[in-house]
Amino acid sequence: MIRMHHVKKGYTNPENGSYQTILNIDDLQINEGTHAAIAGPSGTGKTTLLHLLSGLINPESGTITIGDVDITKLSESQRDRFRADNIGYVFQSFNLLDGFTALENVQLGMMFSGKAASKSRAEEVLAQVGLTDRLHYKPSQLSVGQQQRVCVARALVNDPKIILADEPTGNLDPSSSAEVLRLLKNAAEGKVLLVVTHESDVISQFERVLDILTLTPSPDLAVK
Ligand SMILES: Nc1ncnc2c1ncn2[C@@H]1O[C@H](COP(=O)(O)OP(=O)(O)OP(=O)(O)O)[C@@H](O)[C@H]1O
Ligand SMILES: [Mg+2]
Repeated sequence: MIRMHHVKKGYTNPENGSYQTILNIDDLQINEGTHAAIAGPSGTGKTTLLHLLSGLINPESGTITIGDVDITKLSESQRDRFRADNIGYVFQSFNLLDGFTALENVQLGMMFSGKAASKSRAEEVLAQVGLTDRLHYKPSQLSVGQQQRVCVARALVNDPKIILADEPTGNLDPSSSAEVLRLLKNAAEGKVLLVVTHESDVISQFERVLDILTLTPSPDLAVK
């Protein structure tokens, strides 16, 4: 269902202007129904991998096929639309809109996909993450763990085919963490769920673990 083929992505090193390869993925296939953890040291490209899969960034070369669409061939606005229709994304850095309440942030997630911003559906997913009593709080009025749960609710609200979650339990206590993971897995039953995590008890709940360093023999980072 998802295939990355000969994908290369790097960045210009701001210190010396040279190009540095971050990801160099020969062939990665992720079938429908796969739930996998993505693990690896800080700074090795886990977030970059999720950004590529969601079309937030494009690789320098290679193809990224989701279903029968090569998203690298789409324009930026087409990729935005594709993401809204197909992908639920839990950002490592949250990306909540400060001026809006938890409920409005989740409703906005629906509007981008062209669906009606159903208040009751937004309330339902916020209830699932245990935030019924925080619907009208703005991000600055929420704890970090609560903000993280708003992000999870926003990612689930459109019932996406693919869920990409970048350290979705990084700021949660063990019981909230287990609950959020259970929610993500339930929401992704029969679908694709990729979770970046450093936590061994989260990793242990996945049959498939993608080790970013094995996946991408990345010469520029390997020498460090
Ligand atoms: N815009 C950029 N310009 C230059 N280098 C960048 C840029 N964005 C990311 N990088 C580099 O790419 C590498 C991979 O970044 P990425 O955010 O994917 O790491 P990560 O594995 O998610 O790390 P972490 O576990 O700390 O979140 C890092 O070493 C980072 O310095
Ligand atoms: Mg990251």
